[in-house]
Amino acid sequence: MKKILVTGGAGYIGSHTVVSLVEQGYFPVIVDDLRNSSLVLLEGLKELCGDRFSFLSIDICEKSHLFSVFESRAIDAVIHFAAYKSVGESCDVPLRYYQNNLIGLMNVLEACQTFKVEKFVFSSSCTVYGEPEVRQVFESTPKRLPESPYGFTKWMGEQIIEDIHRNPQPFNTLCLRYFNPIGAHPSGFIGELPVGIPNNLLPYITQTAAGIREHLTVFGDDYPTPDGTCIRDYIHVCDVAEAHVRALQHEGSLPLDVFNIGTGKGTSVLEMVRSFMDVSGLNLPYQLGARRPGDITEIFANVEKSKRELGWTAQRSVEDALRDAWNWEQQLKQHD
Ligand code: UFG
Repeated sequence: MKKILVTGGAGYIGSHTVVSLVEQGYFPVIVDDLRNSSLVLLEGLKELCGDRFSFLSIDICEKSHLFSVFESRAIDAVIHFAAYKSVGESCDVPLRYYQNNLIGLMNVLEACQTFKVEKFVFSSSCTVYGEPEVRQVFESTPKRLPESPYGFTKWMGEQIIEDIHRNPQPFNTLCLRYFNPIGAHPSGFIGELPVGIPNNLLPYITQTAAGIREHLTVFGDDYPTPDGTCIRDYIHVCDVAEAHVRALQHEGSLPLDVFNIGTGKGTSVLEMVRSFMDVSGLNLPYQLGARRPGDITEIFANVEKSKRELGWTAQRSVEDALRDAWNWEQQLKQHD
């Protein structure tokens, strides 16, 4: 059974990926120091996967600790999620973001070289396209400078990976550029656990529906889109998770390749609000507010390459994701 090191495997996308890996007969070795996650997700993973994974509480920025994992286990491949991910916070504490996200990545890459793993999968983001000239982006759409230190850590992460691949590497790398992952596992055992006030749209919606927040503020209704609100490519987190399994199975000829992980369809903020009300049967209080600095008007993925070369497409709808996110929020309430 192949052992897959999953850094950040107790986090939001990481935990869903662990479930997909187990379903496909891999053995995930989670490395996570839980600083941005919680035992709730680990307990949920135990419910879903039993003992078919292992967990190590390790900070990947501590190189010797990370290397000891490779020394004691024969790791076949690495999926690297562990990183800070809040756009707003990264503007307040940029050094913390650069230190954690880049040192962590470089340590993991060095371990992949030293211990000769077969494959490396990097969590990238559509943030590397910056504010694109086109609404639908291909992997070949030129990258632009991102708007935040968080975005730069993904942009620079891809650059570091590209630079090391100028020389032959023992491992093959895939960068997966996620669009907007939302939703939760349909079982309700794992899902998103935002720390403090959520920045992202969907956890803000579900917390408002649960009465934790008074109302949602829609950031700007004067954008040049049909209803005036921003458009994003929201994708179910279980579809994102499955893309990682396909990435591990991919036998492409390129030592380094990049894939968009989205649905190919854009949805506006107001469409998300209305769909949530339809799915939940609740009235969601919301107000129209000012634009949020740094938001881009519209971006959605072209997913032809992922379909053609990874044999992967999103299987679930935005409505499925909204239903699963709401189910998760209600389960969380029971935990309190
Ligand atoms: N929004 C609101 N109200 C809220 C929260 C969000 O109206 O309370 C709007 C935003 O203005 C935006 C849309 O909902 O138009 C989506 O916002 P999110 O914060 O959920 O997602 P973003 O597209 O801004 O950010 C995501 C990822 C980042 C990544 C970025 C790249 O969260 O990690 O895409 O574009 F960098």
